[in-house]
Amino acid sequence: MSARPSADELSALPQRMIEAADLVTVALDELLPRADGPEEQLTEAMRYAALGAGKRLRPYFALETARMFELDEAYVLRAACALECIHAYSLIHDDLPAMDDDDLRRGRPTVHKAYDEATAILAGDALQASAFEIMAHPDTHPDGHVRAELVRRLALASGAKGMCGGQMIDILRHGADLGSVARMQRMKTGALIAFAFEIPLIMAQSPDAERVALMGFAQDLGLAYQMVDDLLDAEGEEADMGKAVGKDLDQGKANYVTLLGVPAAKERVKLLSDQCRAHLELFGARATYLRASIDFVLDRRR
Ligand code: IPE
Ligand code: IPE
Ligand code: MG
Ligand code: MG
Ligand code: MG
Repeated sequence: MSARPSADELSALPQRMIEAADLVTVALDELLPRADGPEEQLTEAMRYAALGAGKRLRPYFALETARMFELDEAYVLRAACALECIHAYSLIHDDLPAMDDDDLRRGRPTVHKAYDEATAILAGDALQASAFEIMAHPDTHPDGHVRAELVRRLALASGAKGMCGGQMIDILRHGADLGSVARMQRMKTGALIAFAFEIPLIMAQSPDAERVALMGFAQDLGLAYQMVDDLLDAEGEEADMGKAVGKDLDQGKANYVTLLGVPAAKERVKLLSDQCRAHLELFGARATYLRASIDFVLDRRR
């Protein structure tokens, strides 16, 4: 069994996460469009959603992994901002009345409450377009083949075989067996989390063994991440989460918590976190902070 992170490593982690989150918020502020004309309502709503108090975990994972491969941070940061734009769009649409019908997100009214439904739909659409504009821009990487691969993989992670496909299954309340739930969770949440690790892998053109180990880690972490989100829906506090809790059962959602109950779902998160640590063994000390982030992310209150 691989070593647990030391107390020093654990105590440095929150600061590294805050620094990454600040970098991303500043970069997004520069990258997102502003408009003067009547379409200003759209760019304001995009900025309201994307610049809110998100944890920025996906960008953090991309930046932390980039350090393992000694990559240029400026390139990874732009790609991570593109990913965060897709994530912000997915949350705007997830909260719409036609989907989860939520009024609170990141501690403030959801976009369709702060503006209106049409603006929320358009802000999601335009954030998606911004993501690909940022990713395809020459400033994101000097090699056009690398940029094309980043665009292609982000499209796969966010489309019908990734986030959108998973959201469809979730909304259809399809599949009350654990296998179907795992597939849905890996698609709706796991795919975008895994893409955070693909960014540095694509840029580094890393050896196969490292790629396989890191993607195994990413996939287990992504599944566990959504399981913890579902646990927090059952046991968390609205004030900590900045979003409504206790809704999954009411809305008839199928997930590990609604199907198995809280103790069994926690047991599975623990199993996945052990698997995550095992996937990182190959990287030794290079993965110290990724290793430390497993417990930090899975023990979160928000
Ligand atoms: C919320 O994602 C939706 C899920 C996929 C579980 P996050 O927990 O990353 O939300 P923010 O970005 O910090 O608000
Ligand atoms: C994941 O699931 C949402 C997305 C993939 C956008 P949830 O619907 O559980 O996320 P929250 O709880 O609203 O943040
Ligand atoms: Mg949802
Ligand atoms: Mg939701
Ligand atoms: Mg949830």
